[in-house]
Amino acid sequence: MSTLALHSYGDLCMLTETLESKVGLLLKNVKTLAIVCNQWGDTGKGKFVDFFGHYWHADIIARGTGGANAGHTIKVDGRTHTLHLLPSGICGEQNIIGNDVVFDPVEALKELNGLEEDGVSYRLLISHQAHLALPQHFVIERLREMLAGSSKIGTTGRGIGEVYGDHVVRCGLVVNDLLNPDIFREKLEKNLKMKRLLLRGFDHNVVQEIVREVSLKNCIPYDEKDIFNADAIIEVYTKHGKELKAMITDTDNFIRQSLGKKRIILEGAQGHLLSVDYGTYPFVTSSDCSLKGLSKGVGLHESNVDRVFGIARLPYMTRVGEGAFPTELGGERSRAWCNTHKRNDEDIEYPDATINDNDEFRQGVAVRRKGGEYGATTGRLRRVGWTDAVLLEYAALTNGPYVIFTKADIMNEAEHIKICDAYIYTGPTYFIGNKMIASGSVLNSLPSADNNLLRHCTPVYKQYPGWQQDISSVKLYADLPVNLRNIVEQTAKRAGVIPVVISVGPDRNETIVKP
Ligand code: IMP
Repeated sequence: MSTLALHSYGDLCMLTETLESKVGLLLKNVKTLAIVCNQWGDTGKGKFVDFFGHYWHADIIARGTGGANAGHTIKVDGRTHTLHLLPSGICGEQNIIGNDVVFDPVEALKELNGLEEDGVSYRLLISHQAHLALPQHFVIERLREMLAGSSKIGTTGRGIGEVYGDHVVRCGLVVNDLLNPDIFREKLEKNLKMKRLLLRGFDHNVVQEIVREVSLKNCIPYDEKDIFNADAIIEVYTKHGKELKAMITDTDNFIRQSLGKKRIILEGAQGHLLSVDYGTYPFVTSSDCSLKGLSKGVGLHESNVDRVFGIARLPYMTRVGEGAFPTELGGERSRAWCNTHKRNDEDIEYPDATINDNDEFRQGVAVRRKGGEYGATTGRLRRVGWTDAVLLEYAALTNGPYVIFTKADIMNEAEHIKICDAYIYTGPTYFIGNKMIASGSVLNSLPSADNNLLRHCTPVYKQYPGWQQDISSVKLYADLPVNLRNIVEQTAKRAGVIPVVISVGPDRNETIVKP
């Protein structure tokens, strides 16, 4: 078994050329490529938008869903920028924020100003129809989560659900309203009337405190007698509108005009299992994170997309917040810990947890630490568990068969690897249509990622020996350890997917394009 180590500038040039030609072959005849996540997000979309943006020479990178709830870190000239709303390809080609994105002008300007201060140039267009996030959305979301208590969703606090909710109940505002003050006022006042009604059900002091905090954060003068000060909101937000005006346009038309002529990357947000339509509802985000939602969010139909890559971590996966996660290392103990503690707490409490720990909870702590699994938006601990081939199969039904496997390098030291092959249902008798699922039933596939079902599913694992060697310098699939290739191939076969790329480290070049 041989591994190729890079020694010189010449080696690097050769590798770059090789990756470029492999990507060229992989994407032959492709003009529009979608990159989505087949799990619960945080699988490495940012790395692959950068990778394909670079080696495939993309012309346009477009986001279609989600908002400032996403999180990606980009490095430019040695400086790190943590972005939430801007697409992760912001420093390169023409970037687009599409029509189904939740647009928070305050966050957008903060991120854009941060780039400008560091001399980073960008080319960004913002859909005039993107949904507008406003202070009332942050306030109501906080209150809703508070009211839900132990059944809260564990949102990122970016108002996402409230904004999409307003859109669906037809009282939402869009980015274009920032440019038309009279319309902005009319729509805002109608919207605030509903919100004020909603606030009556909450303790007045709590409401005031939250409104005060949100106002401060968004630089809106706070008036305790006028809980949502429409005049102040209009003044501040129309000012933001003026700053953003040159970027606001009909991006749907721009993308349609570019179809077949330019190389377009559609950058997914969150992950399939967090999709409001396909995920573990209600523990999901409020947009459709699948290929279908992404295409619609940039003004396209999914048939306009020539190739889709669904990213999945292998052999472990993560989820942030609440909701079912059958393969979670440490199960309920892990869920409760991750949702109530910070990184520091576990560094103090479990400093010596190891990846081969006999206690699964502690093993999970070690994987989290090694993988740096802390939310980029909220800093929360990501829950970790073994990769689930049943859920991967389910996601591929919508997103197609081509997958990119990431993060294997984190498990280099593991003696054993487990992949979920099926479930045993252990809950109360449950009906899906006229199909009865009784306790003890074996489930090999899922009709939906039903949280009521999944929360009572015990995984049936296939266990594999680990590979126990460093893989970060491996450049060819054939040079990966045989035990890892076996896991890749068996998992792909079980889930009915085709692996096209294996990521062996965070850097652009730590990537293997499979022959
Ligand atoms: P929201 O999107 O802020 O409404 O949060 C809804 C659920 O989606 C919560 O469980 C969040 O933790 C999760 N979520 C939202 N964005 C991300 C992400 O970028 N990565 C992982 N989980 C996310």
